[in-house]
Amino acid sequence: MKVTVVGAGAVGASCAEYIAMKNFCSEVVLVDIKEGFAEGKAMDLMQTASLNGFDTKITGTTGDYSKTAGSHVAVITSGIPRKPGMTREELIGINAGIVKDVTENLVKNSPDVIIIVVSNPMDTMAYLVHKTSGLPKNKIIGMGGALDSARFKYRLAEALEAPISDVDGMVIAAHSDTGMLPLLSKATRNGVPVTEFLSTEKQNYVIEETKVGGATLTKLLGTSAWYAPGAAVSVMVQAIACDQKKMIPCSLMLDGEYGESDICLGVPAIIGANGVEKIVDITLTEEEKAKFAEAAKAVREVNGDLKF
Ligand code: NAI
Repeated sequence: MKVTVVGAGAVGASCAEYIAMKNFCSEVVLVDIKEGFAEGKAMDLMQTASLNGFDTKITGTTGDYSKTAGSHVAVITSGIPRKPGMTREELIGINAGIVKDVTENLVKNSPDVIIIVVSNPMDTMAYLVHKTSGLPKNKIIGMGGALDSARFKYRLAEALEAPISDVDGMVIAAHSDTGMLPLLSKATRNGVPVTEFLSTEKQNYVIEETKVGGATLTKLLGTSAWYAPGAAVSVMVQAIACDQKKMIPCSLMLDGEYGESDICLGVPAIIGANGVEKIVDITLTEEEKAKFAEAAKAVREVNGDLKF
């Protein structure tokens, strides 16, 4: 299994590192536009191989896409991250051009590739890849829900004072501060609804802190996070590489599911060797349905700024 990661910056390098450390891929190719940067990151990572015990071969290239030929999966992390106080939506001007260009290069060299879109505003960038790549819709997967759900579980465990492995929960809808929908009604601690343990005040705390999870880190770090985003991507790549048929919330092109069409939004899906094997239909409360529709409206407005 060959994986290409475009953008050897914070998220791209972290993602390559987690993929290599889990040892399920034969090759990872890092691509960046900055001269020598991807080559340098690849060499540094390869020098951890004997220390960390992996055999994955990591190489880097400055924009030579012929080196990515025959990739099964490509991850797009190229583009600018947000700075403190910025929204993800403010990145669209620069990132749309980069994502479109990168997509064309990837598909030209790997016509059967499955693309995982990470660059922000992610739901809109995933939509852009659908509109410009010519790939079937099962092969384009936006990464947002995997990360946001991990952040949700972190906050649930904190509020419950429980080990993270005891809690389960999922975030769907948009990958934005306002459009994220942590499904508290379905979150559990050892199979028991968390609403049985948490006061309304604590429930609200968990939801709000999950939604601003990225912004909180951006304020602390001066740029956006990379460990959890990289780990989230690696889980998605592994689900494809090992045909795990794992349920992961991802931003997918909807065609009537959850009442929406012609939009990419976060929904639970089974991810396996074919990319998206199936979108899972879970029952939402009336309030959750209204929030999902609101998130769709906001993402559609951002999509309106795209020029193909
Ligand atoms: P970064 O600035 O550390 O890395 C981005 C890299 O992309 C840079 O090395 C840059 O040289 C490269 N690049 C720019 N244009 C390129 C092109 N045309 N071809 C190849 N490489 C190019 O940024 P970071 O922190 O890695 O974030 C990357 C993107 O991922 C941002 O848009 C950020 O907002 C997004 N992100 C998305 C998350 C999600 O959950 N979907 C989570 C975290 C970040």
